Amino acid sequence: MNLDIQLGLGTAALGRPQYINLRQEKALTQDIDAFKLKGFDILENAYRLGIRYFDTAPGYGLAEELLIEWLHTKKDDSIKIATKWGYTYVGNFESNAKIHEIKEHSLNKLNEQWEISKAFLPHLKVYQIHSATLETGVLENEAILDRLAFLKEEHQLEIGITTTGANQTEVIKKALDVEVNNRPLFDVFQVTFNVLDQSLGHLSERLRQDGKSIIIKEALANGRLFRNDNYKHYNGVYDALERIARRKDVGIDVIALKFCTQTIPNSIVLSGASTNSHLESNIKINEISLTEDELRALKNFGIEADFYWKERKQLLWN
Ligand SMILES: NC(=O)c1ccc[n+]([C@@H]2O[C@H](COP(=O)([O-])OP(=O)(O)OC[C@H]3O[C@@H](n4cnc5c(N)ncnc54)[C@H](OP(=O)(O)O)[C@@H]3O)[C@@H](O)[C@H]2O)c1
Repeated sequence: MNLDIQLGLGTAALGRPQYINLRQEKALTQDIDAFKLKGFDILENAYRLGIRYFDTAPGYGLAEELLIEWLHTKKDDSIKIATKWGYTYVGNFESNAKIHEIKEHSLNKLNEQWEISKAFLPHLKVYQIHSATLETGVLENEAILDRLAFLKEEHQLEIGITTTGANQTEVIKKALDVEVNNRPLFDVFQVTFNVLDQSLGHLSERLRQDGKSIIIKEALANGRLFRNDNYKHYNGVYDALERIARRKDVGIDVIALKFCTQTIPNSIVLSGASTNSHLESNIKINEISLTEDELRALKNFGIEADFYWKERKQLLWN
């Protein structure tokens, strides 16, 4: 995988007007065509800014459809698409939907979603289990693992998992042991990592030594890294991020994203930008680097994973 540009674009916010975050701007929920046009424009801008790694999922509403449509306008072998299977979007773009997505780690769901996602080939490089957990048994389901191994071989894919939750390291360790025909199945690990949740810790070293790719999601802690009176317990984090951001003359987002890629070298960090101004700020990670002192200062703000995920569960679909 080409890791020259360390920022990838996550498309969760481009495919459905609501998602789990602390929203600054209300999304355009009334007019889906306008919402799609805006998404298209952000994809185009990302490309113009040099981004070549795009992360999507069927669970992100119309994100796959949008990305497939946009890809048809490009002739560039360097574009890499990573998608997932396992969640179905059911929110129907309604802000008051009671249920937005349904998780199903079954062979039927894999086969059904693959039929759509395969349209990304040959740009499709990474195929992931969306939010692998111990509870769904997906890492022990031989029919699913065999099918993924088949797709890997047949289409030269890298197979991955994404992890969410306080026990993500346990899930990653289990996935590292999964073999099909005596060969490790998983090559890519999309993990949660940020100034607050540093629970990945030393496992990132092992992943790198084993030649795995690390993709970082939720690098801004779903917006919790921006000063917010509802999160006064993070005032120390806010002070530190703002101080460093002022020094480097960039936004806090840039510091938080750069913290991830410098702490976990050779990783790709996903921007979750829903506007061009966010994206144009995020891309500045290419222009700065943090000193050892700055990294050390930010490392001090890691919190307990249990607390992090308890708080994350309380965030609403906005
Ligand atoms: N595999 C999984 O289960 C999973 C789960 C979550 C995410 N992901 C992937 O990771 C990507 C990024 O995650 P995320 O967006 O959920 O989390 P994130 O990057 O941690 O947080 C994005 C939040 O930060 C806010 N924000 C404020 N200033 C920003 C700025 N300058 N630039 C960007 N964001 C800013 C956004 O505000 P606004 O709301 O105003 O835009 C949004 O609320 C997703 O698009 C998706 O591809 C995967």
